Order: sequence, then structure tokens, then C-alpha cells
Amino acid sequence: MSKSYDVIVVGSGIAGLIFALKVAEAGSNVAIITKKNSAESNTNYAQGGIAAVTSQTDDVEMHVSDTLVAGDGLCEEAVVREILKDGAAGIEELARRGVEFTQLDDGRVSLGKEGGHSKRRILHVQDVTGKAIEDALVHSIETSPNIDTFEHHFAIELITSSKLKKLGHSAPEGDDRVLGLYALNTFSEQVETFSANAVMLATGGIGQVYQFTTNPFIATGDGIAMAYRAGVEVRNMEFIQFHPTAFYGAGSDRFLISEAVRGEGAILRNLKGEAFMEKYDERKELAPRDVVARAIDSEMKQSGSRHVWLDTRGISLKELHERFPNIYEYCAKQGIALERDMIPVVPAAHYLCGGVKTNLNSETTLPGLFACGEVASTGLHGANRLASNSLLEAVVMANRGASTAEKYLVNLKTDPIELPDWVDGDVRDSDERVVLLHNWDEVKRTMWDYVGIVRTTKRLERARTRIETLKREINEYYWDFKVDESLLELRNLILVAGLVVDCALQRKESRGLHFTLDFPEKSEQLVDSKVSV
Ligand code: FAD
Ligand code: SIN
Repeated sequence: MSKSYDVIVVGSGIAGLIFALKVAEAGSNVAIITKKNSAESNTNYAQGGIAAVTSQTDDVEMHVSDTLVAGDGLCEEAVVREILKDGAAGIEELARRGVEFTQLDDGRVSLGKEGGHSKRRILHVQDVTGKAIEDALVHSIETSPNIDTFEHHFAIELITSSKLKKLGHSAPEGDDRVLGLYALNTFSEQVETFSANAVMLATGGIGQVYQFTTNPFIATGDGIAMAYRAGVEVRNMEFIQFHPTAFYGAGSDRFLISEAVRGEGAILRNLKGEAFMEKYDERKELAPRDVVARAIDSEMKQSGSRHVWLDTRGISLKELHERFPNIYEYCAKQGIALERDMIPVVPAAHYLCGGVKTNLNSETTLPGLFACGEVASTGLHGANRLASNSLLEAVVMANRGASTAEKYLVNLKTDPIELPDWVDGDVRDSDERVVLLHNWDEVKRTMWDYVGIVRTTKRLERARTRIETLKREINEYYWDFKVDESLLELRNLILVAGLVVDCALQRKESRGLHFTLDFPEKSEQLVDSKVSV
């Protein structure tokens, strides 16, 4: 029996939670499906803050201009303007929902600075902005009467009318549209069927596709994989943002050292102790991220070093404690006192600028399917996201998507339908399955080695060959085995890795985050890379 709702939201980060609250407040009954506990999301780890024009000395056109410069020609200007103009309203909404942004001693809101911003415009809660946002929104959800939250439920596959027809089931007449989804309850290990006429994908990013990432384990690109398999258009996947300054430690964890630390004066130095950013860009440490990450990569390659240093010794101890308590504490645990020692840092995969293509109402190319937050590609970020624009985009687009979803449901004038149950494979364990799970490491290493900051066609083609083999293997297994979370994530990860490589091979130029030695110049033509089944 399907569980029936007006709206299903997949994901409980900032995008999913704000969307869910809005549609629930308008009267829809809502299921939130989230694969871990509600708070586990990229949102929860956001540090620097949320960019918005709130000061008298700033102006939306300056924010627009900074975003366009960072996006390196590929942003959709009308989209940029439309989203950024709602920045202050987004901040007010977060404050109304309980986020207490850090204030200065005189009561004004504290505004941070990050790379590519011509003004101080980043609102923050010390250096734990994401946790403050997530805590406030999860609390609102818990007290909302129209929302059921299904934690530890892994969304596997969208159900569409065309898919039902293909499988010989009865399905609504008319154009293809979304009808619900299957989700694995990871506690009971049963696949449950959810039926709804509107589904919001808010599943976040794909950082786990790479060996080294600032993203938590949830970031496996599930929403993009689901959308792609349902025939939805996905674009610009080659634009992977590598954050320049992640803590360099022994394991593969990459704790973020916020760009806001550079905003307050920290300096990048090579292993000889020389400040090097001036050689690469006049904006030095506060150049856009693609520039800084490439500069670090180049310094590391020249000297054969495994990291560079971030020097915070010029920032007062008071400021380090007050503004960056979380980073200070993390580094202290690694034996590094920020007032005395330098931090070893390296770039790490951080953010996906492309994704599921949407319009300004968060609608995808499949009727009834919405996407917002990091999973979506609205046209705001272009070839490189301006720092702290993603939390803002999520708030604004969740609101716009909510209004559109309400209208869509009213116009559809039909209830969700009963959907067929999931048919599972029955093979459980085998030695080969264990071997298959080792493919996790292979895909992540392949992406890191061949699809990193500096690319070549030869390396991309090598990556494609390996990923195709992995894809074949996983697809052979998928249909026989009883699904579990790691198998599902691996299948998605491999698919999404392939999409990144396919998009990267389509782009015969270097632009923003996509830099290839074979085409080092920008092309005159502005094109999106596209993938769809
Ligand atoms: P997320 O917050 O990632 O939420 C995705 C949700 O989907 C999670 O609940 C996850 O469990 C769920 N999910 C995924 N797949 C499935 C599935 N198959 N089934 C069910 N549930 C699923 N941006 C800024 O603007 N400012 C910052 O300061 C900033 N700092 C950052 C620091 C770090 C360390 C990181 C990693 C990112 C940072 N970013 C920052 C980026 C920003 O945090 C994210 O882009 C944003 O939070 C994404 O929000 P989201 O709601 O789209 O996705
Ligand atoms: C940071 O704090 O450096 C992350 C900001 C972002 O990813 O926008």
C-alpha cells in the first residue's frame, strides 16, 4: 500500500526544510524523506555564512556584478538578479524562524567578507552558520502539524507515469509526470512506496564522488542520479568547486577552514613561508575560489609539497576566539594554535555548480518534479559559485518552488494514485558483492586523479573508460541483489561521476572551475553542457 501525501520532499537540508515548511503552511500535507537523521546534511556544516545585501553601503547590483564575475560568463544574468534581489527577505525569514545572526557590540549585524565579494555582506553565526540554520529549521519542522518526517529512509527511484506504462501498469493519461517514489527504510530494510503529485528533490551535492571532500557522507548525488534516470535534464556537471582551504590531515577527511578566515586577513604561504597569491591575482587571498585553488595546486606541484600553509597569526586572538571558535577548537585538537602556528591546507571537492536544470520556479523538465538547493542548476552560479551564495539560493528558490508547487497541485485537480509495490532482487551476500563495494574507493580515486582542478582530455577519457566498467558491473548486480544503502549510494555515485566526466568532455574550453590544458582559452560561445537519457 502506498503512503499518500500532497507533496514529498527528499532531503532535510536548508532547501528541503524551507520548502516543506512553506507548502505545509499553505495547507498541503507533506512527507519529508531523509536518509539519515534530519540534521545530517551539507547545510549543517556550513561555516562562512549567507551572502545578502543588508547594509546601506551595499547594493544588489554590486552583488549581481560580483556573482557574474565569479561565474565567468556562464551565469544567467536575469536569474542572478531575480534571486539576489530577494536576499534580504531570505535573511528575514531565517531570523523569523529562529536563526540568531552574530551581532557586533553596537547591535548591528556582523558582516563577513569572502573571496570575490566587493563588500562585506556575509551574515553568519560565528563559524557555525549552517548548524544554527539547521537547528532552527528542524525545530520548526518538529512542531509543524502537516509534516511527517521519515528519517533513515533512502529515496531510491522516482515513479513516473511513463515508467509505469513501460512496466505494463495502468497510469494516468497525458504527458509524463511524477507520481511518487520508492524509499528504502534502512532500519526495517523494507522498500516503501510513497505517492504524491509533487516531489521536491533537495538532496544536496556530490562531494563524495571525490576522494577528498569537505562534504559529509550524505553527499552522494542521489537526487541527480534519480532525476537523470527519470529522463530529467541535468547540466554543467563539470563545474566542481574545489574549496582552496581544507585542513590537510592524515585521513581522507577534509575539515573546512572557512574562506571567512582569509576574509579577516589570513595569508596563504608556500612551504618556504612565502606569500604567493600576489603572483596569481591582484585580489590575492580573496580572488574567486577557482583562481585560489589553481594557485595552490600550482604551488604544490612546483614544490612537490602535499599542502600549503594558511597563516592566521595576523588575526588577534580575541577575533579568532569570537569569530572562529569551531575552527579554533578543531585546529587545537590537531595540535595547532592559530595565534602561533600555521594551518596545513589543501583544496578539496566542495560544491557542485551544475545539477538538475530548473527554471526560476524550481521546476525541472518533468512536470510535478521540483529541485532546489545544491542539487539544482538554476543558472545563478554559472561556471563558478560566488562564496556563500548557495545558502541564499536555497532559501529563495525553496520559497519560489513552494508557491509554484501549490499552484501546480491546484491545477492538476487529481489525488495521488495507488502505486505498485517495489520488486526486490533476492540475492543477499556473496564474496563478489564485497569486491563490488571496493569500487567506492576506485571511483573516488579515479575522480580525484583524473577529473580534478587541472584536467586534460586524455585523463578525462581514462576516467570515462574506468567509470564505464564500474557502471557495467554495478548495473549487473543491481537487479539481482536485495538493495541496501551502500549499494544504492555506490550506483548513484558511479552514475554521477560519469555525468561529470561526460560534461567535462563536452566543454572544449577553460572556463571558471573547468580548466583543461588541451583548451586553455575561453570559447567565444556560451554553452551549457547537457546530459539526459
Ligand atoms: P543539504 O544540506 O546537503 O541536504 C541534503 C539532504 O538530502 C540531506 O538531508 C540528505 O540526507 C538528504 N538526502 C540525500 N540523498 C538522499 C536520498 N537518496 N534519500 C533521502 N534523503 C537524501 N554555502 C554557503 O552559502 N555558505 C557557507 O558558509 C557554506 N559553507 C559550507 C561548508 C561546508 C563544510 C560545506 C560542505 C558546504 C558549505 N556550503 C556553504 C555549501 C552549502 O552548505 C550547501 O550547498 C547547502 O547547504 C546545500 O543545501 P541543500 O539543502 O541543497 O542540501
Ligand atoms: C566557507 O566558509 O568558506 C564556505 C563558504 C561557501 O562554501 O560558500
